Amino acid sequence: MEKALRIKVGLASCGIAAGGLDVLEKVEAFLKDHQVEAQLDHTGCAGMCYAEVLMEIEDEDFGSTMYGYLSADDVDDILHAHLIDKKPLPEHIVVSEKFGGSEKEIIDYQTRIVLRNCGVIDPESIDEYISRGGYEALKKTLTDLSPFDVIEEIKQSGLRGRGGGGFPTGIKWELTYKEQSDKKYIICNADEGDPGAFMDRSVLEGDPHCVLEGMLIAGYAVGADEGYIYCRAEYPLAVKRLKLAIDKATERGFLGENILDSGFNFKLTVYEGAGAFVCGEETALIASIEGRRGMPRIRPPYPAQSGLWGKPTNNNNVETYANIAWIMRNGAKKYAKFGTEKSKGTKVFALTGKIKNGGLVEVPMGMTLRDVIYKVGGGILDDKKFKAVQLGGPSGGCIPESLLDTPVDYDSLVKTGAIMGSGGMVVMDETTCMVDMARFFLNFTQDESCGKCTFCRIGTKRMLEILNRITQGKGEEGDIEKLEELSVKIKKGSLCGLGQTAPNPVLTTIKYFRHEYETHIKDKTCPAGLCKDLIKYEIIEDKCIGCGACKRACPVDAIAGERKEVHIINQDTCIKCGACMTACKFDAVKKS
Ligand SMILES: Cc1cc2nc3c(=O)[nH]c(=O)nc-3n(C[C@H](O)[C@H](O)[C@H](O)COP(=O)(O)O)c2cc1C
Ligand code: SF4
Ligand code: SF4
Ligand code: SF4
Repeated sequence: MEKALRIKVGLASCGIAAGGLDVLEKVEAFLKDHQVEAQLDHTGCAGMCYAEVLMEIEDEDFGSTMYGYLSADDVDDILHAHLIDKKPLPEHIVVSEKFGGSEKEIIDYQTRIVLRNCGVIDPESIDEYISRGGYEALKKTLTDLSPFDVIEEIKQSGLRGRGGGGFPTGIKWELTYKEQSDKKYIICNADEGDPGAFMDRSVLEGDPHCVLEGMLIAGYAVGADEGYIYCRAEYPLAVKRLKLAIDKATERGFLGENILDSGFNFKLTVYEGAGAFVCGEETALIASIEGRRGMPRIRPPYPAQSGLWGKPTNNNNVETYANIAWIMRNGAKKYAKFGTEKSKGTKVFALTGKIKNGGLVEVPMGMTLRDVIYKVGGGILDDKKFKAVQLGGPSGGCIPESLLDTPVDYDSLVKTGAIMGSGGMVVMDETTCMVDMARFFLNFTQDESCGKCTFCRIGTKRMLEILNRITQGKGEEGDIEKLEELSVKIKKGSLCGLGQTAPNPVLTTIKYFRHEYETHIKDKTCPAGLCKDLIKYEIIEDKCIGCGACKRACPVDAIAGERKEVHIINQDTCIKCGACMTACKFDAVKKS
């Protein structure tokens, strides 16, 4: 039975990393010491990763009150004030029905469809999922609708795949449905290899049943009786909660044989991938499940025609499936009211980098990048100047300030040279070097190339060599043109999306920040002061009082000088770590 007082502690990976388990222990101890009757639960990520640890108190006095930025030391004071004195501490409140809270506006800007249960329910409790309408959509589907009806509804909703490509989901289902076969499969792509992305992990950790329900509905629609969730093994909590959710759903008759007496059978297996980026590509993923090396193959045939073990297979991303039950319960029309003409619904973004409110947000498609970054994300960390935003991970590109009013939808973003991608949004400030940024992403794709195509394998290597030279001050006239030429050839000559999009971060940074490349090549300087080989730390004679703090901080003994005398940096020994600059209280160390 539910108790009148309920306390929830955020225990997704972000909450645990911030000390959530210590907070939970303190809450338990407080309730015991003060003999307070309460239901103590844990939830997944509420999205406000920057404000972890989060603790929500639901009671009759104040409704829902979310406290944030907590450490275990804060727990006693907060619980005492809230539960015993009945005077909650406003300075700790982040979102509250009664008190507003410091982060209330940020939540209000969002529309939570995919994240509807994340941070709200206990992800390990099927009853909580059911209490919020969970498995209602499955019941309705199996009882009232034909596979054709379901496909029509998804088509009408305008939902497009959230794994990066944006292919219309209803059409993909229809293609699999139309194939004649004794056996069909459903796959959920939870590989999520993009640097800076954690949307899928958070959904799986926070609301695993909604993904299962989406897959079940897809299975019924296309005529499949078996499914796989391909999740990288580096997501142990997601894997654990998925397996638990499968067991519980099977116990309740939502999975297995003759589901809800409908005659529909469906079996689900979690397959743990070894964490290779290329295994997120659907044909490589299928090869990996079959026990072969994860290498992409030429399409067609598409997985809808010949997928897992040669059978018709529908593959969708985690977020795509997480939308399905909501659409089936609330109707395609309601869903299609959110978003733009060709990009319906909402999109979850993992906001990272130099942003104040880093975390997970869900916004209606069509909101401008400026609003996502400044209103939802709270603006740039330390109020520094915005420089660019990187969208779409290594397949995407960097968008400059002049294009910040671009709406977040598939087609508008492609026009900038970036892509929507799966939802990684990395914000960069004035201290970011754009050449180095392009080098970082190319280094990643180069490393992750499966090596099948010459252009992808060797072309990206040559591009990386050029970028390395430029950031080391060894750039030459003509390097930019060589990068552009190689980019075109790699895009054309590569078999899969990895190679076809690998040059994008380089091309967009050349397009919008060409002057930074030129400065590195011609003047041998890095305008952002980031490329180590192009910077120098020096001590300003007039300012140095000889306190010795820099000398003590230097990890490689590169600083010489007696007490009360001007100190000097040995440039041959210096590894350019910047520790001396941080240690000097007299602004006597300069970086040039
Ligand atoms: C190199 C590479 C990596 C990919 N990684 C992922 C991934 O981690 N998750 C994902 O859903 N799609 C990924 N994709 C896209 C998938 O191939 C596929 O288009 C997608 O899973 C389809 O689902 P959707 O229609 O729901 O978007 C990747 C594609 C490429 C080329
Ligand atoms: S483009 Fe690159 S990752 Fe894709 S198949 Fe070719 S070599 Fe492998
Ligand atoms: S810390 Fe600054 S003032 Fe002190 S010795 Fe070093 S440079 Fe000079
Ligand atoms: S930058 Fe680092 S290595 Fe160089 S002098 Fe300063 S503290 Fe030493």
